[in-house]
Amino acid sequence: MLGVNIDHVATIREARKINYPDPVEAALLCQARGADAIVCHLREDRRHIQDRDLCRLKKAVTVKLNLEMAMSEGIVDIALDIKPDQVTFVPEKRKELTTEGGLDVLSRKNRVKKVLQKMKRKGIEVSLFIDPDMRQIRASREIGARMIELHTGRYANAQNKKDLKREYQSLKNSSKFAKSIGLKVFAGHGLNYKNIKPLKNIKEIEEYNIGHSIVAHAVFVGLGKAVKEMKALVK
Ligand code: PXP
Repeated sequence: MLGVNIDHVATIREARKINYPDPVEAALLCQARGADAIVCHLREDRRHIQDRDLCRLKKAVTVKLNLEMAMSEGIVDIALDIKPDQVTFVPEKRKELTTEGGLDVLSRKNRVKKVLQKMKRKGIEVSLFIDPDMRQIRASREIGARMIELHTGRYANAQNKKDLKREYQSLKNSSKFAKSIGLKVFAGHGLNYKNIKPLKNIKEIEEYNIGHSIVAHAVFVGLGKAVKEMKALVK
């Protein structure tokens, strides 16, 4: 399954603070072309997706809507109110460019469990975005999670074959372990058209959540057509 993260369509819009490109229109296009889920991240600093986008996505999207979110109070209230199909708890530091490491479930078991239960009571599924680390996986299961998303950042950023092999193995072992203790396994962060291929051999991974590389590729898949259309108008 493929979850397409449409945050960076909103990043382009927010660069100008105008009303296009519209992430909801993008979500509908992704859905029409086979996305199994639409993913967005409502960040505390609202650098891309805005509250109004989330409301509109909830109304428009017919596949699974997966909201990535920090467990901060304001955002938790919004999630409980909008009720996406699924939320993914992620860590959030304001200055980071993207979600850098996984959520530390182990040292925040009580807090994560409390918010997870709040979501479940509203019928919202909860996934925990964690590093491929057995202790974090076990802790996730212990607090009642049913699904996790393994952070693939270290795999995606590996600089040489040795590191790549180690990170791949770590994802493989983690996926097997997670599945064996009853967790659904998703994966995401930094995945692109090349590094996705080996991961497909890890059968335990049911869903991939991918954003930046798809939006980046779309620029070059579409740029030629966009220039041609403008040239015809200018001529
Ligand atoms: N999964 C999670 C939990 C994320 O936080 C992100 C980044 O927003 C992604 C997947 C998508 O990562 P990328 O944009 O690098 O494909």
